[in-house]
Parts: sequence; C-alpha cells; structure tokens
Amino acid sequence: MGNRLYLSVFLVFVTVLLSIFHTEQLQSSDSKTLLRIQQQLNFPPVLSSWNKNTDFCSTDSTSSLTVVCYEGTITQLHIVGETRALLLPRNFSIDSFVRTLVRLPSLKVLTLVSLGIWGPLPGKIAHLSSLEIVNVSSNFLYGSIPLQFSLLSHLQTLILDDNMFSGHLPEWLDSFPALTVLSLKNNLFNSSLPDSLNSLENLRILSLSHNHFYGPVPDLGRLANLQVLELDDNAFGPRFPQLGDKLVTIVLRNNKFRSSIPDEVSSYYQLEKLDISANTFVGPFQLALLSLPSITYVNISGNKLTGMLFENLSCNPGLEAVDLSSNLLTGSLPKCLMSNSNDRTVLYARNCLETNQNQHALPFCHTEAIAVGIVPEGKKHKRVSKEVLSIGIVCGTFGGVAIVALLFFIIRRESVKSKIKNPPTKLISENAASGYTSKLISDARYISQTMKFGTVGLPPYRVFSLEEIVAATNNFDSASFMGEGSQGKMHRGQLKDGLLVAIRSVKMNRSYSTQDFMHNIEQISKYRHRHLVSVLGHCFECYLDDSSVSSIFVVFEYVPNGTLKSWISDGHYRKSLTWMQRIEATIGVAKGIQFLHTGIVPGVYSNNLKITDVLLDQNFVAKISSYDLPLLSYTRKVWTK
Ligand SMILES: *[C@@H]1O[C@H](CO)[C@@H](O)[C@H](O)[C@H]1NC(C)=O
Ligand SMILES: *[C@@H]1O[C@H](CO)[C@@H](O)[C@H](O)[C@H]1NC(C)=O
Ligand SMILES: *[C@@H]1O[C@H](CO)[C@@H](O)[C@H](O)[C@H]1NC(C)=O
Ligand SMILES: *[C@@H]1O[C@H](CO)[C@@H](O)[C@H](O)[C@H]1NC(C)=O
Ligand SMILES: *[C@@H]1O[C@H](CO)[C@@H](O)[C@H](O)[C@H]1NC(C)=O
Repeated sequence: MGNRLYLSVFLVFVTVLLSIFHTEQLQSSDSKTLLRIQQQLNFPPVLSSWNKNTDFCSTDSTSSLTVVCYEGTITQLHIVGETRALLLPRNFSIDSFVRTLVRLPSLKVLTLVSLGIWGPLPGKIAHLSSLEIVNVSSNFLYGSIPLQFSLLSHLQTLILDDNMFSGHLPEWLDSFPALTVLSLKNNLFNSSLPDSLNSLENLRILSLSHNHFYGPVPDLGRLANLQVLELDDNAFGPRFPQLGDKLVTIVLRNNKFRSSIPDEVSSYYQLEKLDISANTFVGPFQLALLSLPSITYVNISGNKLTGMLFENLSCNPGLEAVDLSSNLLTGSLPKCLMSNSNDRTVLYARNCLETNQNQHALPFCHTEAIAVGIVPEGKKHKRVSKEVLSIGIVCGTFGGVAIVALLFFIIRRESVKSKIKNPPTKLISENAASGYTSKLISDARYISQTMKFGTVGLPPYRVFSLEEIVAATNNFDSASFMGEGSQGKMHRGQLKDGLLVAIRSVKMNRSYSTQDFMHNIEQISKYRHRHLVSVLGHCFECYLDDSSVSSIFVVFEYVPNGTLKSWISDGHYRKSLTWMQRIEATIGVAKGIQFLHTGIVPGVYSNNLKITDVLLDQNFVAKISSYDLPLLSYTRKVWTK
C-alpha cells in the first residue's frame, strides 16, 4: 500500500510540474509581436517556421532560433541569420523595428545576429530594461552607442562585433556594474578609452580589436576578474597597460606601444596567450615569460626587445607557438624551444642570434638597442602570493516525498469539487488565487519582480577571500560542521557583518586553473531567487607552487528553519505547518524549479529534487537547496582530454 501510494503520489507530482512548464501560454500580443518581427526582418529563412499558429514557447530551440518563455512572457529571443546576410530592403526602419522589440519588455537575452539590420541603434532599446545579454553582431548598425543604453543596469554581456559603430566608448560605462563581457570588435570606434572602464569590476572579457581607438589604456589593475584583453589593430600606446594578474589572454598586436614590458607580466601565472607583436616595445624581453605555468602562445615579433637567450633556459613544455622574430635578441636559442618542435612553431628570424639562419650581425642589435633607449617602468614588482580566487556552487542533498504527498492531497481535494478539464496545475493556482488569500497572488507577482530585479534582500554576489572564509567558520571548527555529501563538506559560518552563511567546500583532486571555472562562476552567480537557497559568492584556494585550484568554497545564504520534510513528517516534535503554509511551500518549490528551467540562461535541468532538498527560512518561505550546479558536473566530468 505504502509503495503504491508513493508511486501514484510521485506521478501526480511529476504531472503537476510538467504541466506547469508545458501550459505556459504566450499572451497573444507577444505572438503578434514575434510575427511582426518576422515581417520587419523581411521573412528570413531562419524564421520560416513561424506562422499564426506557432506555439512559440514550446518550439524546440536550435542554434539559430530560440524563444524562451517564463511566466507567459518571452525572456529570451535568439535569431541568427545566414552568415552573409544582405542589407534589409530600403523600407526597413530600425526605429519601428525597435519599437516592436520593446513590446517584449521581459526580454533578458537578445541575440540578433547576421540579419542585415541597418541603421543607427535607437535609444529606445533601453526600454528593454531587463536585458542581461545582448549580441547584435554582424549587422550594419552604425552611429554611436546611444546614451539611453546606460539605463540597462542589468547588462552583463554586450556584443556589438562586426558592425559599423563609431564615435567614442561612453563615459557612463560605470552604469553597468554587472558587465562581464564587452566586445566591440570590428567596428569604427574612434576615440580614446574613458577612465570609467576601470570601474567595471566584474569585467572578464574586454575585446576592442579592429577599431580606431587610440591613446593610453586606462589603469585596469582594479579589474580583478579581467581575463581576456584584446586590443589588437588600434592605435593604443605608448605604455603597456596596467593589469591585474589574472589575465589569461593579452593581445596588444599592431598598436603604438613603445614602452618596456613591466616585470609583473612574468608573474601572470594564468597567462596562456601573449601577443604583443607589431609594436615598438623596447627593453629586455623577460625570459621568465616562456616558463609561466599556463603559457602556450608567445608572440613578440616586430618589436625592439633586447636580451640574451641561453641554451639552458627553461620553458613551459606546453608552448605551442613562440614567435621572437624581428627583435634585437642575442645569444643562442634555448634547447627547450627546439625539442619536440614538430608540434610547436618557433620563429626567430631577424634577430642577432648565434644561428646562421637569417640573422643580423651582433653589432646591429647593440647599436639599435642603444638607439631606442629603454623606458623603465617605475612600478613595484608584485610577487605571486597565495592566490585566493573564487567560485560559487550550491549545496544540500537529501531524500523524501512529503511535498509529493502534499500535492497529491491538494489535487485530490480539488478534483472532488471540480471536474478536471484543465491540467492539475491550473486547479492549484486558480483555487489558490480565488479561494485562498490574495497573499499568493502577491507572492507570484513578487517572484516575477524578483526575476526582473535580482534577488531582493540578498547582498550582491561577490568573491570572498580565503581569510573571510576561515574567519567565518572559525577555521572550519568542528562546531561549525553541518554535514558532508558527495559534493563536499558543509560548514555554518558567520561573516564579519553578522550575516549567517552556509559554506560548501569542494576539494579538487585534479589540477584545474581558476580560468577553467570562469564560465561556471558566471553561471553560478545567477542562482539567486526567492525560492532557491541562493549563492552569495565563492572563493578559490590555490596551490602555491602551480596556482592550480585546490579547493572551491561556495557561500550560500543560511536557511535556518530545517527541511520541509522535518516540518511535515516529524510533526510531533514541533507545531506542524498549517495547510496554507504547505500550499505556499508547494507553490514556492514549483516557482523555484520554474526559475531553474527558464529563469536563467542557460536553464538548469535534471535536478533530481527531493523533499529533503527543500528548506524553510524564518518566514517559512520554501527554498530549494540542491540543484544541479555546473561546477559539480564539471568536477565530475571534465578532464577527459
Ligand atoms: C517592404 O516592402 C515590401 C514590398 O516592397 C513588403 O513586402 C514588406 O512588407 C515591406 N517591409 C516593411 C518592413 O514594411
Ligand atoms: C554572438 O552570437 C553569435 C551567434 O550565436 C555567435 O556566433 C557569436 O560567437 C556571439 N558573439 C560572442 C562574442 O559571443
Ligand atoms: C570619428 O569618426 C567620425 C565619423 O567618421 C568623425 O565624424 C569624427 O570626427 C571622428 N572623431 C574623432 C575623435 O576622430
Ligand atoms: C606573430 O605576429 C606577427 C605579426 O602580428 C604575425 O605576422 C605572425 O604570424 C605571428 N606569429 C605566429 C607564430 O602566430
Ligand atoms: C645556464 O648557462 C649559463 C651560461 O651559459 C650559466 O651561467 C648558468 O649558470 C646556466 N644555468 C643553469 C641553471 O645551468
């Protein structure tokens, strides 16, 4: 009997959840808007499947076309046309196109790539105030970035590559506190860079290649998360930019740099690619660059770098390409560069090296070196210290069934009263709305607000220092220990400001570098919702010797009231939940799942949720504590190569 009840209850639960996601009906005005977009884009082949009867929310997504809905509105629209899209016809009007777009005000992700869209981007686009990710590459957009863009304060990714934008990069960049990716490659921007760039603390990728930017690069040393800096084919200079030491890719090719290379660069332990070719860099070439732990590509060709190479120099065996040509180097080629040279490109022509291939005579390099002089960089040398970076995750893990039983009872009660025509979800929500209090309705509204405005009441996502983590848990004192699961240990902690947190520590047994987690972190930082045990931040602990990650700590909000299961099945220990609280918890869980599926990009599925994964906070708000984190699957799966 027990088992059968179990099963039927489970099936009902699954049905309920599925129906929540599958009955998502788009408002007809949104459907009309999409059809209007199709018409304004001149019926591109990629939209050929759209017609009056299309159920936009439940069509399969492809790499060129995706529509994602959340609570009956469109939150994501990706349309990618053919690579060589032609200009849209004369009667295309970008103004009316954008006027159409802004009728989808819940859009968080907008990709309109290779569609032949032309014209200056109207400021009205800022009416899409929820936008987080914008990619309008490969169109024919021109003019400057409209001022109104600054209103898009949730913007995380802005990609305007391969257009004809011009003018300057706006001063108000600091109005995008969340910006992680700024990519403006292949445009006609012609200005110097504003200092406000250095306030984009979350910036991970800054890509300004192939424009007409000029002048000094502002101090980017404060951008602790910056990993990719691509400035090639501009007129930047003369000084090597000031950068944090987390860089993975530095491309300064073909600019007007004329300084020396600061010493710090040889402590950028995550650096994989360094391309400073085709400038006029002077002074010594730091040989230590060749032995950085992650380095694979070094191109210094076409500069006036000096220095003496040694046969016994050590270099990273992972080097794939080293181009030293056209500098003022002397000495003999390092052996380490020449070994297993089959799969490695090593170029060194036009130096003064002791090989007889295509080299200048030694005096040439000496005179040239004296002629260019050396511009010393008067800066402190930073040591590679114990690096504490970070990451986020989510925790919790349990087992049970009570929520299912709960749903089962709700549904059963309702089905007695009314003839079931609609799927069971409808019954829950309709009856909850009319028969019970209006609090549920406001709750639902609250959640869509949360969707739009981030998680109310939580501090912003941030990187924690290892010191903070240690202090919060009293050096992982056994009194703070909460439990251990397949995903590591859980500790309770209290931050300096008094906030209670739960900290999950995940030990890495393979060697990962922090940048391997770049993408995961970006994703994890979005797991913040009223009905999730939300992530507050992360922290990496790294090994001193090779800087690979030894542990990741993920900091969660602390949810004090125990599991939903304990409130339902251990009722005799404490006052059990009221019927109303149970229903609210049920709806909360459904909302949490819905958020995981469609409220973030990309969605999180296969969560294998159990009732013990649902925690209650002090106000009995249900929060899902165990959902599939990209980081965890990462630690399990990755490193097959
Ligand atoms: C542009 O004109 C063509 C016919 O000349 C028409 O089919 C199309 O709908 C027009 N497009 C817009 C956006 O008005
Ligand atoms: C923009 O979108 C296109 C199409 O999906 C994609 O190929 C491109 O990589 C995106 N740009 C960036 C910088 O991610
Ligand atoms: C940038 O380009 C635009 C359009 O070509 C031109 O009008 C403007 O004067 C240029 N600005 C600078 C600072 O070069
Ligand atoms: C190094 O840079 C130069 C100039 O930018 C380029 O021509 C050359 O192909 C690069 N070398 C390698 C090995 O990529
Ligand atoms: C490498 O060679 C140079 C001179 O050829 C010598 O001074 C130096 O001690 C050697 N270093 C090592 C580690 O063998």
